[in-house]
Amino acid sequence: MKMVVAYIRHEAFEPIREDLLHLGFPSLSISEVKGSGRQKGITEHYRGASVTNYLRPKIKLECTVSDGDVQTIVDAILKHARTGNVGDGKIFVMPVEQSYRIRTGESGEETLQVHAESDA
Ligand SMILES: Nc1ncnc2c1ncn2[C@@H]1O[C@H](COP(=O)(O)OP(=O)(O)OP(=O)(O)O)[C@@H](O)[C@H]1O
Ligand SMILES: [Mg+2]
Repeated sequence: MKMVVAYIRHEAFEPIREDLLHLGFPSLSISEVKGSGRQKGITEHYRGASVTNYLRPKIKLECTVSDGDVQTIVDAILKHARTGNVGDGKIFVMPVEQSYRIRTGESGEETLQVHAESDA
């Protein structure tokens, strides 16, 4: 199992969510975060004063899947999040030790996303 964590632009999330849903990956989390990349700050000018914002708002997307599904998730994110401009974001893939569905107490890969025999 792996958790795919992506820092993306807000506009990229909805098309990614739609693709993942249609591909059979409806289960994910997002949070609104602030971060910085290589460019560090962006300086804006307001009434003669220059203000540097070191943090930019991003969406943090987390989606945990079987190892064999990682590339599908990464490809969907790349497809919609890449504009070619700086600040498009980053994707990290992290190992996940275990998963539990709290309602049933089940564990393992079957709990991650939709499976044919499930009631989803
Ligand atoms: N190494 C990192 N660790 C944690 N978060 C990161 C890391 N790199 C980027 N991020 C997150 O991703 C967001 C977008 O990063 P960004 O796309 O600007 O990366 P970059 O390396 O500067 O690439 P680019 O040159 O394309 O802008 C950051 O604001 C931050 O939230
Ligand atoms: Mg950057």
